[in-house]
Amino acid sequence: MKIGVIMGGFSSEREVSLQTGQEMMRYLDRSRYEVVPIVIERREDFIAQVQRAGIDMALLALHGTYGEDGTVQGALETLGIPYTGSGVLASSLCMNKRLTKMLLQAACVCTPAGLVWQGMDDYDPQTVERLGYPVIVKPNAGGSSIGIQLVRSEQELLAAVQEACRLDQAILIEPYIQGTELTCSIVDGEALPIIGIRAAHSEWFDYKAKYETGGAEEKVIRLPSAVEQRVRETALACYRLLQCKVYARVDIILQGDIPYVLEVNTLPGMTANSLLPKSAAAAGMSFAQLLEKIISCSLQ
Ligand code: DAL
Ligand code: MG
Repeated sequence: MKIGVIMGGFSSEREVSLQTGQEMMRYLDRSRYEVVPIVIERREDFIAQVQRAGIDMALLALHGTYGEDGTVQGALETLGIPYTGSGVLASSLCMNKRLTKMLLQAACVCTPAGLVWQGMDDYDPQTVERLGYPVIVKPNAGGSSIGIQLVRSEQELLAAVQEACRLDQAILIEPYIQGTELTCSIVDGEALPIIGIRAAHSEWFDYKAKYETGGAEEKVIRLPSAVEQRVRETALACYRLLQCKVYARVDIILQGDIPYVLEVNTLPGMTANSLLPKSAAAAGMSFAQLLEKIISCSLQ
C-alpha cells in the first residue's frame, strides 16, 4: 500500500505540521508501506500533488486551517482517497472553538464561558469587565496556542485583541480558569492515560512550553479515581458528541474536581514533544504501533 504523508500547508501551524510529518515518516513500517512525503505549499496545488503521487491512503500530518478543518478531508473524499482521522463534519466543528463550545454547553459539558467578537468592530471592554479578569484571548480557529494571550487587565486587552484579530476573523475571550492543565487522548474510542501539564517557564501552556524540549513537564497524572473517571468520561463524551473518529485529543483544565473542556483537537500533534504519543507510550503503545492503529482504524 502506498501512503502519502501529507504535511506543511499554510496555517500558522505549518512548522508544527512539518515536525509531525517528519516523525510519522520516521516510524512508518517500510516493510508494509511505500511511503511518500507530500509537502503542501499552495492550496491550488493540493489536488494535483495528491493525484500525481498515486497514493492509496493519506496519512494526515496537517494542523490548523486548511488541513485540520475539514477542507482537505472533503477534497480527499471527493478524490476517493481514504485518509486518517475524523471526517469532514467533526474536523470543521472542532476547528471552530466557538461552535465546539456551543455544542458542549448544549450537552451540559463544562467549558469556560466565552465571548465571540467578529473583529475589532466588536471591541467592547465593558463586556470583558463583566466576564472578569484575567481572561484568555484566542483566535477562534487557531492551534498550538499561536496568538493566545493571558490578559490581566483592561490595559492589556486592546493589544491582545489586535494580535488575535490578525490571525482570525473571529476571536474568543474566555475567563482564565485557574487549575491543572490536563489532556486526554482518545484512540479508537478508548481514553488513554491522562497527562498533566506544568509549563516550566510560563504561566500557561504556550507555544514555547509546547514545543521546546524542557518547556513543560508532561506526565501521567495521578488523580482520585472518581475524578480520573470524570475526566475520561468528559473526554469521551466530547469525542462522541462531536462525531470524532479514530483519534483526537481533548484539552482540559481541572478546577477542583470539575473538568473544563478547552477544545478538541482532531489532528493532534505527533511531534517528538507532543502529548498524544506520550500518552500512548504510557499505555504501552509505541509511536509505530500508534501509527499502525491510526491507519488500520481509518481504513475500517
Ligand atoms: N494543534 C496542535 C498540533 C496540537 O493540538 O497538538
Ligand atoms: Mg488545538
